[in-house]
Amino acid sequence: MVSAIEATSPPVPRHVAIIMDGNGRWARARHLPRTAGHKRGVEAARRAIEACAQRGVEALTLFAFSSENWKRPDEEVSSLMQLFVTALEREVPRLMANDIQLRFIGAREAFPVRLQQRIAEAETRTAGATGLKVVVAANYGGRWDIAQAARHLAERVQNGELTLDAVTPEALDQALSTAGLPDPDLFIRTGGEHRMSNFLLWQMAYAELYFTDVLWPDFEACHLEAAIAAFSGRERRFGMTGDQVSEASHA
Ligand code: FPP
Repeated sequence: MVSAIEATSPPVPRHVAIIMDGNGRWARARHLPRTAGHKRGVEAARRAIEACAQRGVEALTLFAFSSENWKRPDEEVSSLMQLFVTALEREVPRLMANDIQLRFIGAREAFPVRLQQRIAEAETRTAGATGLKVVVAANYGGRWDIAQAARHLAERVQNGELTLDAVTPEALDQALSTAGLPDPDLFIRTGGEHRMSNFLLWQMAYAELYFTDVLWPDFEACHLEAAIAAFSGRERRFGMTGDQVSEASHA
């Protein structure tokens, strides 16, 4: 249920979810290999993390590698894996120094063992942080997440731990990989496409959607500010009428 207070946009979203699109086009426009775009993409991710931490955002989810990205050329996939390892090795001390927690969602067992180790280390080392939660979606798909949550609940019913009546939206929510995080209230996609691309399908039921043509490597703090300003200007009704929302916000 949405409370009266929640039924308007707070000035700052609690959870921002981003599809970081446009690395390849950024590189192509400069006659560079696609990998150069991904490298610059890591820098843009660092800027977005800093800007969200400064703005008091609680959680930032970044879509780094979708379940469908395995279809890319082998060289691009392996250079992305290497880039993730390097980025983790380099960035974790900085995250720790800034009290930022890092968590990964997605089917990580498909990744090279070295990357899985770096992911586990990064999660352990930042687990105690109390500031911004950065969630990296890697080998993630929204349908995969809903299916794994459904399987988990089904197993519990089968074992007699849960009754069928207890299979509710709230129970499914708690079985998703994002359990414990607020739902994203602002979704940003860069790179000019207007799609959800199998991102946080369940969790973004009420997210405000914001699309920009800016290519991800060019994404700066000012672009995040523009997205937050657009979010703050929107009325979030959660199924109510505009009049009900006004009454609720003045109550
Ligand atoms: C989309 O650009 C981006 C990706 C497939 C993911 C790679 C993202 C990064 C390297 C950013 C770093 C993130 C973290 C958290 C380490 P694209 O290749 O689809 O661009 P295009 O649409 O222009 O081809």
